[in-house]
Amino acid sequence: METPMDPGCNRAFAGRRVAITGASGSLGVELLRCFHGCGASLVALTTRAEPLELATSDGAPIPLEQVRWSCGHESELSELFSRIDILVVNHGINVHGDRSAAALERSLEVNALSSLRLLELFAAAAPGKGMALCREVWINTSEAEILPAVSPVYEISKRLVGQLVSLRSLDLAGPNLRIRRLVLGPFRSNLNPIGLLGAGFVAQAVLRLAAWDWGLIIVTPNPLTYVIFPLAVLVRWTYLGLFSRPSAQAPDPAA
Ligand SMILES: NC(=O)c1ccc[n+]([C@@H]2O[C@H](COP(=O)([O-])OP(=O)(O)OC[C@H]3O[C@@H](n4cnc5c(N)ncnc54)[C@H](OP(=O)(O)O)[C@@H]3O)[C@@H](O)[C@H]2O)c1
Repeated sequence: METPMDPGCNRAFAGRRVAITGASGSLGVELLRCFHGCGASLVALTTRAEPLELATSDGAPIPLEQVRWSCGHESELSELFSRIDILVVNHGINVHGDRSAAALERSLEVNALSSLRLLELFAAAAPGKGMALCREVWINTSEAEILPAVSPVYEISKRLVGQLVSLRSLDLAGPNLRIRRLVLGPFRSNLNPIGLLGAGFVAQAVLRLAAWDWGLIIVTPNPLTYVIFPLAVLVRWTYLGLFSRPSAQAPDPAA
């Protein structure tokens, strides 16, 4: 039997159109299953060419639209984004101990810069007729944004995406766009085969906290994260807000 979802999740997500990157990965698949369990309709954004076939634990096929994308070609998703209510930016790589120039460039591109481009593109997409007034982007950063993950290059790329999200949220977040951050501890996946938690448990917890209206969604066995992370985000947000502005002041031609 499928694990029943919290009724609050059904209320929050039923009928919403959700797109998830890294859809064929461990967490991507579990998020798709959970959103399906809540009555959402699904778009699987994947870099894979092979069809992604998902089923509930009862064996019933899960209907989804599969869209192929790749880093550097995010703009091809702009038409799709105008009919999406919730975009979950979930893709990622971990190069572990590799600190070569190539590993660093790939990690920054995949984990940070492509996530930023997707956020900007989604924020700029004009929602189609009949779409919810407030659309959402969920960005899966990681505990590695501020804590060690025994993978320095991964940490650097996750720290960067976390900071970029904080910076751009100052201008992009508002009544029409909600930006939520997923801060997850170690769970078992291709990216982290020795993670403590199961991806299914993490996906369910994420949806439950989102249905409770949390914007900073932390799911980890590490108690320190629950204390340090909100403080770090608040300090960063205050600093960025005080020392940056939405656009450079246009020079006064009369001056
Ligand atoms: N596992 C952990 O302990 C942990 C902890 C905190 C946060 N996270 C984050 O959670 C997210 C999901 O990770 P996961 O653990 O579920 O790992 P995963 O099973 O390896 O899934 C990651 C997915 O990202 C996509 N991807 C890989 N390389 C890509 C590339 N070059 N361009 C675009 N997409 C690419 C792939 O999906 P497609 O083939 O469908 O494109 C891949 O299956 C990641 O952002 C990760 O950093 C993981």
